[in-house]
Amino acid sequence: MSTVPMSVHDAIAARRDVRAEFSGEVVADDVLERILTAAHRAPSVGNTQPWDFVIVRNEDTLRRFAAHVAQCRADFAASLPADRAETFDPIRVEGIVPSGTGIVVTYDESRGGDHVLGRATVRDTGLLSVALAIENLWLAGVAEGIGVGWVSFYDEEFLRDLIGAVDVRPVAWLCVGPVTEFQEVPDLERFGWRPRRALSEAIHHERWGRQG
Ligand SMILES: Cc1cc2nc3c(=O)[nH]c(=O)nc-3n(C[C@H](O)[C@H](O)[C@H](O)COP(=O)(O)O)c2cc1C
Repeated sequence: MSTVPMSVHDAIAARRDVRAEFSGEVVADDVLERILTAAHRAPSVGNTQPWDFVIVRNEDTLRRFAAHVAQCRADFAASLPADRAETFDPIRVEGIVPSGTGIVVTYDESRGGDHVLGRATVRDTGLLSVALAIENLWLAGVAEGIGVGWVSFYDEEFLRDLIGAVDVRPVAWLCVGPVTEFQEVPDLERFGWRPRRALSEAIHHERWGRQG
């Protein structure tokens, strides 16, 4: 993948959740530093910056996490009705080992102390701040030819133990690595799980439900 400069709109349009397109190379340290810098520049409630990034490259750890995710995927598959299970069957939900690098993004609710400016009435704003850091990382990755795949098929306690996280919540495991290509259409759409909604369906005027 080339790393020609791209506009933020181009990066947003090209971004994909990557599972199968990791090239097998490992993301270079300077590139990783740049995309983590982008993540760390995210806005956050009360400027708390409640995220941390645990970089995992140990092959044994990657394999242990992949085995755990495979079990969670199997449990989910078993919970599905037959038609959904058939659609789900060919869909990959992770590229943990092939990506070569996992980044566990954590949330520290205590950061900022007892009086977080802006979180008093909407507690979720802390968690939302972490999600913004992840999106920054995801888009900066696209600009660098680096794919990101968000994995949420895990038991939080398992992941906490795996990385030794105490008092912080693992919010995401991101598979991060160079890719051979970015798919044009999301996997879940290509495999018939769920298509993207039209923008017009998401826009309401003045009050919920007033559309068109
Ligand atoms: C909070 C969150 C959790 C996700 N968890 C997973 C996951 O466990 N496995 C996976 O393959 N993709 C996961 N995804 C990726 C979505 O499936 C993907 O974003 C969606 O299908 C749209 O595709 P796109 O990102 O390529 O546009 C997750 C995305 C988000 C935002």
